[in-house]
Amino acid sequence: MNNNPFANTNSVIKRRENPRGKYAQLNTEDLLDAVKLSANSLHRGYLDILLEIFLFRYNEKQTALDQLNQNLEERIALQLKLAQDAQKRYEQQAKMAAMGEMMDAVAHQWKQPLNAISMMSDMLVDDFSGELVNQEYLDEFSQDIQTQIQHMVSTLTEFRNFFRPKETKESFGVKRSLSSVLILVNDEFMKNNINIHIESDQEILIFGIENEFKHLVLNIINNAKDAFNEQDIKVRDIYINFSKTEAMISLHIRDNAGGIPAKVIQHIFKPEVTTKVDGKGTGIGLYMSTQIAEKLGGTLSVKNVEDGAMFSLEVPL
Ligand SMILES: Nc1ncnc2c1ncn2[C@@H]1O[C@H](COP(=O)(O)OP(=O)(O)OP(=O)(O)O)[C@@H](O)[C@H]1O
Ligand SMILES: [Mg+2]
Repeated sequence: MNNNPFANTNSVIKRRENPRGKYAQLNTEDLLDAVKLSANSLHRGYLDILLEIFLFRYNEKQTALDQLNQNLEERIALQLKLAQDAQKRYEQQAKMAAMGEMMDAVAHQWKQPLNAISMMSDMLVDDFSGELVNQEYLDEFSQDIQTQIQHMVSTLTEFRNFFRPKETKESFGVKRSLSSVLILVNDEFMKNNINIHIESDQEILIFGIENEFKHLVLNIINNAKDAFNEQDIKVRDIYINFSKTEAMISLHIRDNAGGIPAKVIQHIFKPEVTTKVDGKGTGIGLYMSTQIAEKLGGTLSVKNVEDGAMFSLEVPL
């Protein structure tokens, strides 16, 4: 059945018809028919009312569209805020986790010199009773104590620097920065029988926030430490090498901890991907590391090689 009231040539839109009246109910096609009919008839004057209906309809659509756009903007803003909140939470969690691990490392690192100092003071008392204490003895004693304290101070300084919020980018030496990280974790890695080999000699400079770079390295070597323990590997080595060409800075960190399981490796850089049980891992370490790599203007990737995993940071120049 044809509902078009203009299909019948006798149908005529009455002049001064209310544009919001029943003609406004017609669908666009019927309205167009009416326009054609009106344009070809003597009643061209009716075109204005039809035009008004079109305009009215257009305005309604436009308002609906504006509303939709606004809703969309609000929804995008909300999603963006949720994503930013999650990012902040990840950063905070990563920082807390790193701080916890570092506290362990520092506590560990302090235990040995504190024991040494305590032992030396006992010996001093004994040796004094045994009348062995002379000027030479005291000089040596003081020197030994200084060495121990120096070790504690340097650990603490590195620890404080690591967590001092520093947002300025600057050029820093990769080799020097790696040594700083190793000062902090040295005893912890020694206790776990892990040998870290720095294979490159030549210092290279990289531009970025140094503490973030240290954090990236720490995340990767701590993961290797966990993998060594989980896989119960006997001889444990981590090899670190870095180089700079005209086009690229590369840093490779390789371990022999058995590699990353196939089903984990594709998702490894996503947040909250972890294989560690009992809350031992949050799965944020590598996610944060990719963010840091991006801030340095580069990328972080991983592949399994021989008997372990190799992480590569590559920064195009
Ligand atoms: N060197 C490695 N060898 C084997 N598996 C690894 C290695 N590095 C990472 N993985 C795997 O990748 C997962 C994700 O690592 P990521 O550092 O992101 O999180 P996590 O170590 O589990 O937790 P978090 O770092 O937040 O404490 C680990 O749970 C582990 O399964
Ligand atoms: Mg980790």
